[in-house]
Amino acid sequence: MSSTCECFCRMIRLLVTVALLSGCRASEYEYLAWNTPVYGKSPQCVDIPDDLRLCHNVGYNRMMLPNLLEHETMAEVKQQASSWVPLVHKNCHPDTQVFLCSLFAPVCLERPIYPCRWMCEAVRDGCAPIMEAFGFPWPEMLTCDKFPEGEVCIAMTTPNATEVTKPTGYSPICPPCDNEMKTDTILEHLCASEFALKAKIKEVKRENTDRKVILQKKKKMLKPGNLKKKDTKKLVLYLKNGADCPCQQLDNLGNQYLIMGRKVDKQYLLTGIHKWNKSSREFKNAIKKMKTYKCPVFENVFK
Ligand SMILES: *[C@@H]1O[C@H](CO)[C@@H](O)[C@H](O)[C@H]1NC(C)=O
Ligand SMILES: *[C@@H]1O[C@H](CO)[C@@H](O)[C@H](O)[C@H]1NC(C)=O
Repeated sequence: MSSTCECFCRMIRLLVTVALLSGCRASEYEYLAWNTPVYGKSPQCVDIPDDLRLCHNVGYNRMMLPNLLEHETMAEVKQQASSWVPLVHKNCHPDTQVFLCSLFAPVCLERPIYPCRWMCEAVRDGCAPIMEAFGFPWPEMLTCDKFPEGEVCIAMTTPNATEVTKPTGYSPICPPCDNEMKTDTILEHLCASEFALKAKIKEVKRENTDRKVILQKKKKMLKPGNLKKKDTKKLVLYLKNGADCPCQQLDNLGNQYLIMGRKVDKQYLLTGIHKWNKSSREFKNAIKKMKTYKCPVFENVFK
């Protein structure tokens, strides 16, 4: 191993305590030739504020601004980053936070260090299905081909975690069915949705890899979004790639439900489903807050 590389790597390890570096083998010692985009005009190293929730506990305290996504102000970073907090909570991959923060809140160094391509791919493979379930494609700005392969790059704390999850793939997940009756979880689902209503379910059917949820006629709109009255008469929602995923709420259809959805390509996707449970204080709180709750701007970020 080249001593320069060793030194460089040690320096980074020191700074990025949560991150390991890959790509320090001598045969791949090319980082000087690596065509690194330089930080924009006079980058600053600033404290990661408490309310940058995505990255506040990522393992280092200071970050470069502008960041690697070219957000120029902290307000912009916070606004854009907030939409990703729910994804981190979904545990779609153990490196989601390290990956996102390496871009949103890059560690302060002389030159920008990008996340490793393989880590991007691992996070993408874990999280893209979840985003798809909500009707969001993996965003352009996180295209993994953009990130370095085998050069100096930021990777994760637990090298084995990816290997453990890789061969088995992800387990059948059903993000819209998250059963947690927590006010915050319910509001997170609401924020990934365009409309919300109270209804009973008439029937659940499989259709290829999806599950179709057919609602009963009588409904109460809670958040109409762009739904027109005529659209709601015969409302069918799709649980995308959810033909076989576990969804406790659908095991027994006697209940009233809080149903949330989005329209994507002429289909209505089911983005959240909760039993209508008036004896749950968390649930009642969520319904109460729903009217005034201000969601982070998902659409801007997931483009
Ligand atoms: C990672 O895997 C290697 C061998 O596959 C093992 O020796 C090592 O203890 C593991 N490390 C951790 C942190 O689990
Ligand atoms: C409703 O919520 C209460 C309190 O959280 C819980 O004990 C109960 O089991 C729930 N009922 C149903 C039908 O899920």
